[in-house]
Amino acid sequence: MRNLKLSAVFILFTVMELAIFSGCDLDVPSTNPLSQQTPATKGVSTGENRNLLFIPPILDDKDPGQSEAKFELTVRKSSKEFFPGKKTETYGYNMDYLGPTIRVKNGEHVNVKVINTLTEETTVHWHGLRVAGEMDGGPQQMILSRNEWNPNFVISQPAATLWYHAHPIHKTGNQVYKGLSGLFIIDDENSKNLNLPDDYGVNDIPLIIQDKRFDSEGTMIYKTNMMDIMQGMLGNTILVNGIVNPVLEVGTIKTRFRILNGATARTFEFRLSDGSVFYQIASDGGLLESPVKMNTLRLGPGERAEVIIDFSKYSTGEVINLQSPGFKIIDFVITRKENDITTIPEKLSIVPRMEESRTIKTRAFDLMGMGLMVNINGKQMDMARIDETVNHGDTEIWIIRNVMAGMGPGMGMGGNIAHTFHYHGVQFQVLSRDGRKPPLNEQGWKDTVLVNPNETVKVISTFDHKGLFMYHCHILEHEDAGMMGQFEVK
Ligand code: C2O
Ligand code: CU
Ligand code: CU
Repeated sequence: MRNLKLSAVFILFTVMELAIFSGCDLDVPSTNPLSQQTPATKGVSTGENRNLLFIPPILDDKDPGQSEAKFELTVRKSSKEFFPGKKTETYGYNMDYLGPTIRVKNGEHVNVKVINTLTEETTVHWHGLRVAGEMDGGPQQMILSRNEWNPNFVISQPAATLWYHAHPIHKTGNQVYKGLSGLFIIDDENSKNLNLPDDYGVNDIPLIIQDKRFDSEGTMIYKTNMMDIMQGMLGNTILVNGIVNPVLEVGTIKTRFRILNGATARTFEFRLSDGSVFYQIASDGGLLESPVKMNTLRLGPGERAEVIIDFSKYSTGEVINLQSPGFKIIDFVITRKENDITTIPEKLSIVPRMEESRTIKTRAFDLMGMGLMVNINGKQMDMARIDETVNHGDTEIWIIRNVMAGMGPGMGMGGNIAHTFHYHGVQFQVLSRDGRKPPLNEQGWKDTVLVNPNETVKVISTFDHKGLFMYHCHILEHEDAGMMGQFEVK
């Protein structure tokens, strides 16, 4: 009942907003005139205005012990010139924008000291990490301005590309947009022995892909109208690891890319400019059982994929790019002939199938509403309310439905978009999409899943860590507007 009333009010609001913003074209982003002014990159001879890709450094482990790691992250306000001579305010972890890559081993004891030097509160959430609620860094673990937080945990999951980011209540979108995110890589015995490309920054390249909106002054701007809340904040400029118009020089070898869709709202559909195939070897939570050959990869906000592109068929001087409809993401320039000593093994890992018959309980999560009214099961986020209680150790099936707002398909409105559902503290397996088996690249461990309009996605997970956790849409404008809830494992 409450919902019906809310959507009625909202429809009125929407119509008004549409009248005001009817000029904005959401799907075909304009190219930013500023990108043309970026000076040419030294060392790349092909004459376009490009900038060498920046590789986030690996964060120093301050503990010499083999099975211990100690990290320090300082959350700071800074500024950055994404376009030369045009400064804009940013946030970063130890850096001006984004954070260093944290790299740990399965089994390692990890200690982190987080120092918040901002004038506002923040949190550091380990997205995809299987940890107790109090170490998870969700909105329950606020770090006040000028305060510290000292989480510690043992890594107990297979090799994967996870990430970390700010997660303060109602301000996640804003802080992540300003720069508060970084990669969190786990290695294990298996991943080390596979002979995959794994030389970080050389043939193992992190790609944090984001779309941003810049004004003509080069200022990064966030959430300026109701459309930005409805569709999520869509940008006009792609950043990869914080770089505009990036280029990477590659050899004629297989190169692994750890891709994070770090956008607040945009779903990317990656492909190579010449349509070539590539191989996905890992999903959010770890290596797939076998590599999946593909030529398009769809990733929603918060999702990750590790892919291998084989550049051996190209000759030096050739340029290909990674793109997504409407955008060039990054250029790859083949600059050197190299001998390849790596392989893409047929067998990458064992992903034990979780048995549906072992489930104790099934819960339903309906993603509903639009704009400021987005909600889950008719409820908007309330820190004082625990929405679901799960027994420690239980295996459950969660049924996630994207229930479109009642405006009919084809309206192109806020209700007609895919949400990405994510929950904390576990990795899950996707059982089905509308009753059908998920595609091969979704048959490994996941923590974030796209749910298309009117689609029903069934996932399964075992809750082996106690505490308070969040589930939410990873379109951060939706999360901040209230499309989030809390569950407690006890
Ligand atoms: Cu990536 Cu609740 O977050
Ligand atoms: Cu998370
Ligand atoms: Cu959403």
